[in-house]
Amino acid sequence: MQAAQHLGAYVDYAKTDDNIIIFELLNNTFEKMFAFLPSKEQVDSLITEKKILVCYCSGKIAGLIHMDICKNISWIRQIVVMKEYRGRGIGGILLNRYLAISKDYVNEFMLWVDLSNIAAIDMYKKAGYIFDGRMANEYINKVGKIQKGD
Ligand SMILES: CC(C)(COP(=O)(O)OP(=O)(O)OC[C@H]1O[C@@H](n2cnc3c(N)ncnc32)[C@H](O)[C@@H]1OP(=O)(O)O)[C@@H](O)C(=O)NCCC(=O)NCCS
Repeated sequence: MQAAQHLGAYVDYAKTDDNIIIFELLNNTFEKMFAFLPSKEQVDSLITEKKILVCYCSGKIAGLIHMDICKNISWIRQIVVMKEYRGRGIGGILLNRYLAISKDYVNEFMLWVDLSNIAAIDMYKKAGYIFDGRMANEYINKVGKIQKGD
């Protein structure tokens, strides 16, 4: 399997023309109620506000991260890599670029993650995130909050 650098992977802010593929990628990956997914109009606004980074491979979108700053804390709202591109380092590239950009504005990083999502949890731990012990039990799947350590 080719690693991200051999696919010509590069990360940039999403462009206006990326809106439909971003909307579809989010909706095809996450459950609507569970992940608080943005509408098409909200995706347009998020792109304008530079809240979505995408990873392009051979000119096509291979993955994205939707980030947000709330009360001086940076949150990952969603991160997703297209199935055919997973396991090649693209999620890690997106995450590291997000952290590098955001650390100029905030020093706290948080997210909620489904505790059965081993791939995502491993990725976050490698980037320095640790569980802070908080759980949200109102969801069908148990969801834990994790926060980036120093
Ligand atoms: C989570 C996700 C974004 C990871 O993207 P990816 O491009 O496959 O991840 P990478 O190849 O960059 O892997 C980064 C690290 O994640 C971990 N990881 C990735 N896939 C894994 C798997 N199937 N099992 C265990 N660990 C895995 C590994 O620690 C890996 O590091 P390594 O390559 O040094 O072993 C991707 O699986 C995905 O889109 N999942 C569906 C959406 C989702 O669950 N998003 C997270 C919501 S909180």
